[in-house]
Amino acid sequence: MTEVLSTASAPGKAILLGEHAVVYGKPAIAIPVSELRVEVVIESFKCPAGDIWIDSPVIRMYKCVNDLPYENPLRMAVDLTLNACGHPDIPGLMIRINSALPIGGGMGSGAAVSCALIRALSDFVCPNTFTLETINGLVFDVEKIHHGNPSGVDNTVITYEKPIFFRRGESLESIQVKQPVNLVLADTGINSATSSMVAGVRKRFDQDTVRYNQIFTEIENLVAKSREALEQGNTPLLAEAMNENHRLLQQIEVSSFALDRLVKTARNSGADAAKLIGAGGGGNMIALCNPDTEKVVCQALNNAGAVRVFAFTLNSNKDSE
Ligand code: PMV
Repeated sequence: MTEVLSTASAPGKAILLGEHAVVYGKPAIAIPVSELRVEVVIESFKCPAGDIWIDSPVIRMYKCVNDLPYENPLRMAVDLTLNACGHPDIPGLMIRINSALPIGGGMGSGAAVSCALIRALSDFVCPNTFTLETINGLVFDVEKIHHGNPSGVDNTVITYEKPIFFRRGESLESIQVKQPVNLVLADTGINSATSSMVAGVRKRFDQDTVRYNQIFTEIENLVAKSREALEQGNTPLLAEAMNENHRLLQQIEVSSFALDRLVKTARNSGADAAKLIGAGGGGNMIALCNPDTEKVVCQALNNAGAVRVFAFTLNSNKDSE
């Protein structure tokens, strides 16, 4: 009989402002989407001791880890965890992965899978040894194979699961959100690889460095304004900054027809602001709403052909820390 040995989960994330510029050392604001999660269950499995199998219907994988290439992100997550645990003897294991996150949808699904897997496996193999910092570092190492030059924002917001002001190479600062913020995510249904979007921006940056640096500085100013807006509960200021950030993301050519259509739909149906999130090219956009407009905006996004629309609230954490 199989026995559940450990379980863990990790949230999705949305970058409220600052994606792409964050790769170039500018700050970004990212929030966890705790309602959409990756769940990992580790079970005993009848196979030779030390073998680890992966069963993940979302990516259609049912395989022994040893049969995956070394650079496969799941294998990397397993290998790095066992290594950090000092390679103790383990029985045959099955790792079951379920995810409510779209793959290639700008919601950090890769980092969330790594994070939940590293948590569940380390909880079983070397309980109570990994700190959040250890987990964050390992998820970041796996992220590097996903897209070469990650800023580290995805692994950080997902591991710590709180709203953050993040700048590459610096320790995270949590944001004290003063009042609840109503947000709606809508998925274009188009998958997009972060690595190629980031590489595309790099190429254009190299060709037009002065202009791109100007744009990234403008984004940096918007991020600073938005942090204040969140901390003061100033929705109009946040809305203005998010709309402006989308315009600048269009200028660096990471938006798309489908994203722009959903952004326009959200704004026209009453959202205070809307912008793409994450790498762009496809994936999700986010709309800033209020309790009165949220339903209408969701309906409009559904009618406009979004493959999934999801409303959630970024809760106030002003007094909880
Ligand atoms: O689309 P996602 O969830 O992989 O987010 C990527 C965010 C970028 O700023 C575009 C890249 C990065 O490393 O920060």
